Amino acid sequence: MVLDIAKHYPVLLTELISIITPQHGGTFIDCTFGQGGYTKKILSHKNTQVIALDRDIESKKKANKILEEFQDRFIFKNKKFSQLDNLKLKNENIRGVIFDLGYSYTQIKDPTKGLSFNSIGELNMQMGLNDFSAKDVINKLDVIELEKIFKFFGEEKEAKKIAVNIVKERKIKKIDTKILVELIEKTKRKKNFKIHSATKVFQALRIFVNKEISELIHGLIAATRVLEKDGVLAVVTFHSLEDKIVKYFFKSLSEKKSISRYLPKIDQPDTLFRMEEKKPRTPSPKELKENIPSRSAKLRYVIKKDNFYNFDTDIFNKFEHLIEIENFGNKLWKNFQLFF
Ligand SMILES: C[S@@+](CC[C@H](N)C(=O)[O-])C[C@H]1O[C@@H](n2cnc3c(N)ncnc32)[C@H](O)[C@@H]1O
Repeated sequence: MVLDIAKHYPVLLTELISIITPQHGGTFIDCTFGQGGYTKKILSHKNTQVIALDRDIESKKKANKILEEFQDRFIFKNKKFSQLDNLKLKNENIRGVIFDLGYSYTQIKDPTKGLSFNSIGELNMQMGLNDFSAKDVINKLDVIELEKIFKFFGEEKEAKKIAVNIVKERKIKKIDTKILVELIEKTKRKKNFKIHSATKVFQALRIFVNKEISELIHGLIAATRVLEKDGVLAVVTFHSLEDKIVKYFFKSLSEKKSISRYLPKIDQPDTLFRMEEKKPRTPSPKELKENIPSRSAKLRYVIKKDNFYNFDTDIFNKFEHLIEIENFGNKLWKNFQLFF
């Protein structure tokens, strides 16, 4: 059976639940509430509480429905997960923090968001709480900046030619989604029959507009701080850049001394995390058959070894080249003028 593709189906749900074990109760943070698939499953177990976040205000409608049933065990905040630290959750005994990165099917299908190359109209790609849109990127950044975005965030081999043609075309006419797709199709010499010609550029623009790299890094750090001893940090990724970041963060804090040198030395564990499974979990053949979009999903998790809030990480240095590219967006901020 193939599921109705207009609806969002939570990926790797059985695997996630077997890892975070909500049947033992406790408080969980769902950093990417979406359509509430994970949250509902957790709340179906007694003695659980969920604090859910989503940057897309549209998710609030679904959250309000869940609130009707679970008012005393559920909180929703329309916030980005990089702001998790601001929720002041240190003493809440958080047993699990989960991230299901990317977009829900409902968002992909929403024509006003323009996330897909099948959308019609203005370029947008904002998930929510953004500073600029894809229209600003395509119309205002210079050719080198555009090339780097397509190359590093989309691994697009013909990034330079596409960037040059965008800058030429925008002098003549306004570039909307359809025109951008046509321009990429015309520019690309090497056709790949497995994926649409515009897939990589669109992925790159979505990552850039939503600052997905720094969001993820700040989110992982904040999640690690709020977790209690034996708490689980679980992340589902959908593309190789995200997976590289999660894998590095988990591995580096599981293998070498990662506790902050500013903490007392007594009774400190050597590492912050325990990694029980090195390989990511991926969808079963049954899930792949029923829910085709789950095919690139990877689930990784680690367990926090003690109640430490301070730790050292070199993740910002490791991915500095990507953060520098994301910073091209600073000049596009809607409120940029307010600072001057
Ligand atoms: C794949 S969906 C999650 C689906 C959810 N697990 C479910 O079962 O319905 C990802 C969600 O994360 C949200 N999101 C992505 N990046 C975010 C961020 N930095 N902060 C908060 N929410 C984010 C998106 O708006 C989207 O609703």
